[in-house]
Amino acid sequence: MIKIAPSILSADFANLQRDIEKISAADYVHVDVMDGIFVPNITIGIPVVQSIRPTTDLPLDVHLMIDRPVRYVEQFCDAGADIVTCHVEADSEENIHEALRLIHAKGKKAGVVVKPKTPAEAVLPFIHEVELILVMTVEPGFGGQSFMADMMPKVSAIRGYINEMNPACELEVDGGVGPKTYRTCIEAGADVLVAGSAVYGAADIPARIAELRG
Ligand code: DX5
Ligand code: ZN
Repeated sequence: MIKIAPSILSADFANLQRDIEKISAADYVHVDVMDGIFVPNITIGIPVVQSIRPTTDLPLDVHLMIDRPVRYVEQFCDAGADIVTCHVEADSEENIHEALRLIHAKGKKAGVVVKPKTPAEAVLPFIHEVELILVMTVEPGFGGQSFMADMMPKVSAIRGYINEMNPACELEVDGGVGPKTYRTCIEAGADVLVAGSAVYGAADIPARIAELRG
């Protein structure tokens, strides 16, 4: 079963509780955290995660697009994140291992993320330590960008690594996923689809979530 993780980056931030209730048919709430350094945009931080935690029973899938995430992962866990993902490009390999260790020590799920220009092999040092791998299908920083179909070979390669080395690990894609692109992601081996504008831009959100499950 394909899981859907709507990104609240496309929600109305003045009505976050209402907009999180609108996606109750989904599997995860995807929370895009940006620091203005790792990516050229600033979004949601720890207090917002804390405030939205009691508004939903869905797991909070917190995507950290921040420099040196090891500094903040424990605070995001304490704020109520269920899954915390760190970009492999955001720090040394040693510090990313340490960030994953800290997330697990808080009893939460940990994952790594790769940007479009980062090769599939970059996940290998972490593959035995993660519950989720996220492949970006846009340059991180903004919602509403065009899907990069040329990332599909990377998704397939990572699907191969997961099947061989850590079959319980989930494989998520993020960026430009919608009615025209979800199928190719599933065929390439993704089992969790992040969608921001395609979900929040839909007239019938539950129907759109059902559609994206394929
Ligand atoms: C991009 C974010 C994505 C984004 C997805 O940096 O990580 O989660 O919000 O938005 P759409 O689905 O509109 O591309
Ligand atoms: Zn994201």
